Amino acid sequence: MFKILLTRAIPEAGLNLLRSRQDIELIVSPQDAIIPRKKLLATIKGCHGILPMLTDKMDAELFDAAGPQLKIVANYAVGYDNIDLKEAAKRGILIANTPGVLSNAVAEHTFALLLTAAKRITEADRFTRAGKYQGWAPMLLLGTELSSKTLGIIGLGRIGASVATMATALGMKVLYQDVRRDDAFEKTVGASFATFNEVLAQSDFVSIHVPLLPTTRHLIDAAALAKMKPTAYLINTSRGPIVDEAALVAALKTKRIAGAALDVYEHEPKLAPGLAKLPNVVLTPHTASATIETRSEMAKLAAQAILDVLDGKTPPNLVQAA
Ligand code: DGY
Repeated sequence: MFKILLTRAIPEAGLNLLRSRQDIELIVSPQDAIIPRKKLLATIKGCHGILPMLTDKMDAELFDAAGPQLKIVANYAVGYDNIDLKEAAKRGILIANTPGVLSNAVAEHTFALLLTAAKRITEADRFTRAGKYQGWAPMLLLGTELSSKTLGIIGLGRIGASVATMATALGMKVLYQDVRRDDAFEKTVGASFATFNEVLAQSDFVSIHVPLLPTTRHLIDAAALAKMKPTAYLINTSRGPIVDEAALVAALKTKRIAGAALDVYEHEPKLAPGLAKLPNVVLTPHTASATIETRSEMAKLAAQAILDVLDGKTPPNLVQAA
């Protein structure tokens, strides 16, 4: 019998895959809340596989608490900065994630944030609900147009590429920065490769799509924000610590940049002091991948990786330490 732990309930599509097996004892954390660390360390003991959330830290302490039979960690996320890959590799534990299936959802959410910031939708919504609308006015809540504006993409993975493609449909010019230049993408989408500083200096909207790594932590700091146009907006749907949130609050307060739209936070779920009070920022609670379709596909992909490993197969969605 294989013991498999889910640190939180996932959509039925994934649960059913695991439930369909007679050789699995499935443990699903009963609370719809982040599992407390102490509880996690106690429950993981003797497990052969775990399906954690991005909020669960998978480190040496956890792997040791599980025991040597732990074979697979199938993260319910495409990002895996919650997992110590080196400690997992040392113990022969395989790590899987959920690539591909959330690219469209996250790209759409990124664009929704971008449009919401540019058109001042949340400000307008608050204004209207507060009964402040006294009739049409020529200068009321003026936003900015996207057509012929420049979108700067930092990180041209699946999500960044999808956001870039959407932008061209609205007549935007696209600049991108990545560790690799992609000639084919440049030709098909009509995007231009630029240095990090050029992207910051020339873009009207800067959208971040890099993973959280030691090299990307605080990639957007006070110095980077100072390079942006005062009329520019920053969008972040990747990982919070890529942006120095205190520096961002300062830049938004002083109107060093025009606005920001964030789905992720440096000290999630806490927000930097002052952030929530700013009118020129749009905030969502790490819900960029939260569509019914995507969350079901993520559940299937993560569950299938566990089944593959139990069956002695190599899941296609394994991640490895650099
Ligand atoms: C991920 O998958 O990494 C997202 O942040 C949450 O779905």
